[in-house]
Amino acid sequence: MAENETLNVIRRRRSIREYGEKQIPDDTAALVLEAGLYAPSAGGNIENDIHFTVIQKRETLDRINLLAKEAARASGLSWLVDLGNDDSFHCLYRAPTLILVSYRAETAAPETDAAAATENMLLAAESLGLGACWLYFPLQAFSSAAGRDLLKTFGLPEGFRPYSSLIAGYRAGAVPVIPPRKTEHISWVR
Ligand SMILES: Cc1cc2nc3c(=O)[nH]c(=O)nc-3n(C[C@H](O)[C@H](O)[C@H](O)COP(=O)(O)O)c2cc1C
Repeated sequence: MAENETLNVIRRRRSIREYGEKQIPDDTAALVLEAGLYAPSAGGNIENDIHFTVIQKRETLDRINLLAKEAARASGLSWLVDLGNDDSFHCLYRAPTLILVSYRAETAAPETDAAAATENMLLAAESLGLGACWLYFPLQAFSSAAGRDLLKTFGLPEGFRPYSSLIAGYRAGAVPVIPPRKTEHISWVR
């Protein structure tokens, strides 16, 4: 298969769920966030329609974990309830940085646009030697009144809501190995 740096980063990226305590330097975080702004978007106006909340305060990260687990327990979905009840589970895997990816809700495809930005940031993180993981779980934190109050303290602009999130930091455990992808699910029409 062709070798180039972009393809190598795409193949190498994995969801990382073990982190050291060391924080990401601000200039490295800025590069990751900038990559998010270069994502495609349905409305073509990402700079006006996206907002990143970079959370690095341990107390706030742990509060989001607790609120998300509380919401998971109330969800009625057994796999979420089990995670909510698991004392050893921290939904942010104790990563030092959480980035909430919020989007202007009244746009054509806010969830998809936030997803594209999220993937750009995951790839940027990998290319910069960081570990990262896309996370749905912590978004549940903002479904309760207490979670919405917390969200308000983040200063999200009016009309925006979080659609995805990612954690990032320095990998502590082994890199998960995933075998090369098979190609039999590809059909060509030509
Ligand atoms: C929309 C979306 C939501 C995800 N939410 C979570 C999550 O809440 N917690 C988690 O540990 N991983 C989450 N992941 C990561 C997936 O579990 C992971 O991408 C998948 O298992 C494939 O592994 P890889 O990323 O190492 O290739 C999410 C991924 C996506 C795309």
